[in-house]
Amino acid sequence: MKVKVSRDIDSVRQCIDQWRFKGRKVAFVPTMGNLHAGHLHLVEQAQNSADKVVVSIFVNPLQFGPNEDLSAYPRTEDEDRQKLEHLGVDLLFLPTDSVVYSSGASTVVDVGDLSGRHCGLSRPGHFSGVATVVCKLLNIVQPHQLFLGEKDFQQLLIIRRMIVELNFPVQVVGVPTVRESDGLALSSRNAYLSGLERQIAPLLYQSLVKAEGQINNGRRDWDALEKEQMSSLERAGFKVDFFSICSADTLLPAASDNQVWVILVAAVLGQTRLIDNIQVLRSDL
Ligand code: PAJ
Repeated sequence: MKVKVSRDIDSVRQCIDQWRFKGRKVAFVPTMGNLHAGHLHLVEQAQNSADKVVVSIFVNPLQFGPNEDLSAYPRTEDEDRQKLEHLGVDLLFLPTDSVVYSSGASTVVDVGDLSGRHCGLSRPGHFSGVATVVCKLLNIVQPHQLFLGEKDFQQLLIIRRMIVELNFPVQVVGVPTVRESDGLALSSRNAYLSGLERQIAPLLYQSLVKAEGQINNGRRDWDALEKEQMSSLERAGFKVDFFSICSADTLLPAASDNQVWVILVAAVLGQTRLIDNIQVLRSDL
C-alpha cells in the first residue's frame, strides 16, 4: 500500500489528531533521509511499540555549519519512500525548509552544557540546530513516543534532557546502533568513503571494543588509554577529533562512581567525519 505523504503542517496535524481521537498510540522517527538499515530498524522498533508510525525526512539546514556538507548531503526521496512503503509506515512528513521555518528562526533551543562538549566543540551550533528542529517536529507531530538511535549518543542525551526540562509529554526510546558485519556503524555519510577508506573505517569501532575490553580488565588510567587508541587510529590514517571515556549520564570525564561509562569517538577519514560510541556497563559495582 502507498504510504501517505504530507508536505505541510496542517495535514500532518489533521491525520494525527484523528488517530489520537481514536486512542491510537503514535510513534515518531525523525530522520534526514538517505535511509539505511539503521533508520529502518528504528522504524521497526517503533512499529512494534505503537499503533501508528510517523517518519519525517528533513535535511535541517540549522544543524549544519557553514563549511559542512549541507548541499552535498545525499537526498534520495524516491528510494526512501519505497523503503518506508515496504515497511508499512503510516505517515511520511516531507517538509521543505520554508514549511519548517515559515514563521522564522529567531527562537532556538540551546541545551547548554551538554551541547558544548565533544561534537559540540568541533561543530559549534550543531546541537542547538538539532534541538530546535526536534522541538519543532515534536510540536507538529505530538507523538506519544520518539525513537532515536544510540549511534548519535550525545544527540540522544541532549534531546532527552530537552524533553525533560521543557516538559514534553513524550517518551524517548533509544535504539542500539546497527552495524555492518565488520563493525562499521551504518551512516548516510559512509557513502562518502573511497574503497580504501571503507576498508580502514571499521578500525574506529575496533578501537572502542579494545578500550572497552581493557576497562573490563580493570584499566582505569583513562588518559593513557585514550591516547593509545588515538595514536593507533592516527597511524591508520584517521584525524582524530576526540576519543573520550565519559560518564554515560553527563558526558563528563569518567569517574569511579559512574554506573555506566560511554566511550565516544569522532574522527575524519579522508573527507568524511565518522562518529561512534560504545557503552561500558560496569560489572564491578
Ligand atoms: P539522521 O542522521 O538521519 O538519523 C536519524 C535517526 O537514525 C537518529 O536518531 C540516528 O541516531 C539514527 N541512526 C542513524 N544511524 C543509525 C544506526 N547505524 N543504527 C541505529 N540508529 C541510527 O540524526 C539525525 O538524522 C538528525 O540530527 C535529526 C535527529 C533527524 C534532527 O534533524
